[in-house]
Amino acid sequence: MSLVEQIREIAAQIGREHVYRTVYDERLNVLVPGKEDINGEILDTFARIDFAGKSVVDLGCNFGFFTFFAARLGAREVVGVDREAGVLRGCEILKRHFNSPVSFEAHDIEDPCCALLERTYDIAMLVEFIGKTFVLENRIASTLAFLERLSERELIVSVQKVYWIRKELGTSAETLHALYPERYVRDGSFHLLEYVRDFYAPRWRMEPISDMREGYEKPRKLIRFLKM
Ligand SMILES: C[S@@+](CC[C@H](N)C(=O)[O-])C[C@H]1O[C@@H](n2cnc3c(N)ncnc32)[C@H](O)[C@@H]1O
Repeated sequence: MSLVEQIREIAAQIGREHVYRTVYDERLNVLVPGKEDINGEILDTFARIDFAGKSVVDLGCNFGFFTFFAARLGAREVVGVDREAGVLRGCEILKRHFNSPVSFEAHDIEDPCCALLERTYDIAMLVEFIGKTFVLENRIASTLAFLERLSERELIVSVQKVYWIRKELGTSAETLHALYPERYVRDGSFHLLEYVRDFYAPRWRMEPISDMREGYEKPRKLIRFLKM
């Protein structure tokens, strides 16, 4: 079977809802469309991260787009982690096709006994993982805490800066006030980036990687945290 046939077969087995990121070949031809595409801006922004010679863990890697990309950008070792066995089968097929040195492991990062926690990496990444359901279910802090345990040097996170409470989250400010301090729930918006910044602030210094403007912006922003 060709690469495209193999990846399409896996996508059909696991269900399209598990293909978050469009799956591409080495020339960025689409193998299977996902919910989110890659564009030039994402590639350029991610390429600003200094991966040279570093060990990296990529949590919630899906079909491994950023896992493979980190290796191409010079990382010494990259481990892509996902809890879905089906997507990891796809990652292994792509790894063979790309002849990439990365590796993939199945872990559930909500598991407090997760074996990943026995290791640390130069860079721990969480790209396009925290979204609306994490805000609504108050799971941001536990996810950030897990990520932080995997590196003593550098964390890479991407989040949407701000969500409109009614239009995007489909909830009310009163509901969010029950979950979060008032300073993050204001002007009809939930200020996710500020929440993430403050969560890490005592221990990590935040540096934006993406270009940022004032106010609402829909595309997720890449941010780096460096240990103080
Ligand atoms: C929104 S996708 C992010 C994809 C990838 N980081 C990217 O930007 O292309 C989230 C991925 O995390 C995985 N995932 C969700 N919860 C997880 C958990 N508790 N442990 C490990 N992986 C998880 C999902 O299977 C999915 O592949």
